[in-house]
Amino acid sequence: MAGYAMNKALISLMSPLLLALSACGGGGDQSSFEQGALAGASIGAPFTLTDQDGKKVSWDSFKGKYRLVYFGYTYCPDVCPVDLQRIMQAYAKFEKQSPALAAKLQPIFITVDPERDTPAVLKNYVTAFSSRLIGLTGTPEEIAKVAKDFVVIYGKADEKGPKDYLISHSRTPYLFDPDGKPIALVPVDDPGTKDVDEGSPDAVLAALDHWVK
Ligand code: NI
Repeated sequence: MAGYAMNKALISLMSPLLLALSACGGGGDQSSFEQGALAGASIGAPFTLTDQDGKKVSWDSFKGKYRLVYFGYTYCPDVCPVDLQRIMQAYAKFEKQSPALAAKLQPIFITVDPERDTPAVLKNYVTAFSSRLIGLTGTPEEIAKVAKDFVVIYGKADEKGPKDYLISHSRTPYLFDPDGKPIALVPVDDPGTKDVDEGSPDAVLAALDHWVK
């Protein structure tokens, strides 16, 4: 991800998340799950966006389901595809071991590049990871509002032309409960908890096992 200068507005936007994280930090005997917990954080709000099939989808469309929400963009050269692959590999394992619980969990990819990520582009992208992954896009204004409500920072970087740029963005795989309240950050970049193999989707799987009931 390219460098991104945070201004004061963005820092204040991030503060609920930082507060939530610092409130859970501290004790050395806490599990990694508790350190990543987001209970009570102001993350998420109702929205209406467009899915990979061109259908309108709202946050309430997922009522009653846990939601694993990842913000990124399909042209991302490195971080997004690796994270999404880990998330969806973990989801596939979770589905195999606990099909009933996996059915209650919806993985969602929301683009921060609405200019290039049309529904058709998103469809190709999400399908490559899993038939269970939903991709959402919208107008630049809609995406800006959703990103703000979900405490995600993004902006164009290395702009070489109207269709040739990178997007610097926060790396935030959020897990929400069936009411749409934030539960935790899923440890997608975690080298692994004590109980699982290093550098594998198992850290994500362990988090799903822990939180999805
Ligand atoms: Ni990315």
